[in-house]
Amino acid sequence: MDDNGINYPDRPNDLESFWMPFTTNKGFKQSPKLLSSAKDMHYQTPDGRQILDGTAGLWCCNAGHGREKIAEAIKAQADRMDFAPTFNMGHPAAFEFANRLVELMPGTLDHVFFTNSGSESADTALKIALGYHYVRGNGSKTRLIGRERGYHGTNFGGTSVGGIVKNRQFYGSLLSGTDHIRHTHDIEHNAFSKGQPEWGAHLADDLERLVQLHDASTIAAVIVEPVAGSTGVLVPPKGYLQRLREICTKHDILLIFDEVITGFGRLGSTFAVEHFGVEPDLVTTAKGLTNAAVPMGAVFAQKKIYDAYMENTKAGIELFHGYTYSGHPLAAVAGIATLDIYKEEGLFERAAELSSYWEEGLWSLKGGNHVIDLRNLGIIAGIELEPRPDAPTARAMEAFHKCFDDGLLVRVTGDIIALSPPLIVEKTHIDQIFDTIGSVLKSID
Ligand SMILES: Cc1ncc(COP(=O)(O)O)c(C=O)c1O
Repeated sequence: MDDNGINYPDRPNDLESFWMPFTTNKGFKQSPKLLSSAKDMHYQTPDGRQILDGTAGLWCCNAGHGREKIAEAIKAQADRMDFAPTFNMGHPAAFEFANRLVELMPGTLDHVFFTNSGSESADTALKIALGYHYVRGNGSKTRLIGRERGYHGTNFGGTSVGGIVKNRQFYGSLLSGTDHIRHTHDIEHNAFSKGQPEWGAHLADDLERLVQLHDASTIAAVIVEPVAGSTGVLVPPKGYLQRLREICTKHDILLIFDEVITGFGRLGSTFAVEHFGVEPDLVTTAKGLTNAAVPMGAVFAQKKIYDAYMENTKAGIELFHGYTYSGHPLAAVAGIATLDIYKEEGLFERAAELSSYWEEGLWSLKGGNHVIDLRNLGIIAGIELEPRPDAPTARAMEAFHKCFDDGLLVRVTGDIIALSPPLIVEKTHIDQIFDTIGSVLKSID
């Protein structure tokens, strides 16, 4: 109980009812890891241990935790107006936030559709792409292409174009009319690349193979993460994204970048769009959009897409899509406060400046126990471990638990440790992150 008489669920006495997402429920409930408060770079456990956040929560608290400016904005908005619909009416904060966002985005990606998560952003972008071709009289362009190992959330659209086996295998045939290009990772050719690998631009030509197979007249869009995150940090080979853009343009296929992770400073630039100098037709975002303080996503659309809907719809609603909470007031003000912090503290520039120190820290693990690849860009890193022959993923999971016991939160996916600390990270934290991982790897077999 705190001074305000609020009973925070620091120590729930029964863990059974909450069916936890992407969790070994049985394992967790036998040996729970609870977090009860967070400030700046650290979580605190109910028994008072400090845990350095090596993952910005889930790649989302880019400005660190417990930011007062965001909390105050949310409180003030909740007092003024808790909710307002955005179907055929509006409220100022949603418009202001959209205007602030498009100022940050290069090129003609100048309209924003609000959602509540990265998954909803992915499905929204796919639907906008289908409708775009439809309103222009190209209704046969319906096929949606993703990439193997891609992650676009867990709704049906994103799961269907996603390429992570476990996320797909339980759910039947998913959406019909999808296909996948090859992923870009090949340990034989591009292991231990610092930043973007030299090898692999030609893998974008796999899209031409699908054009040969299905014909461009049936393909609506291709969606990729510029840097694949959830599958374990796959950095695009030099020239790969440029080539994908060229092939899409040639065949009137919309290119969608899923920037749910890469957006808002993670690469040391505002967006991957800017970082790689490649402008897609649609960009999906979430996570760092509001520093994760209130759930929200946003899809950026090029002017030509918005205009196609406006010009080709004679009267009435142009896009039959939306969520009760699209542009929710609390999320919108949290987002505005978040953008203020990013700007005032120069966090994207800071990420760019720190990226070489980050890279050096990561590369201190080269030659270490079990390490078969290291990958990095901006303030992201992936450490691939050799799987145990009889128990894939077990080694990385053991590393995760040991790091947590040693006061460091990392993320593991398969046999890969993925890192993405808040962009307020200091050099001493970077040292702590890689020292801890180094000694944990030494201690496990
Ligand atoms: C690239 C990408 N797209 C979409 C999502 C889904 O976001 P959410 O969990 O907010 O639905 C994620 C989440 O990690 C992601 O990394």
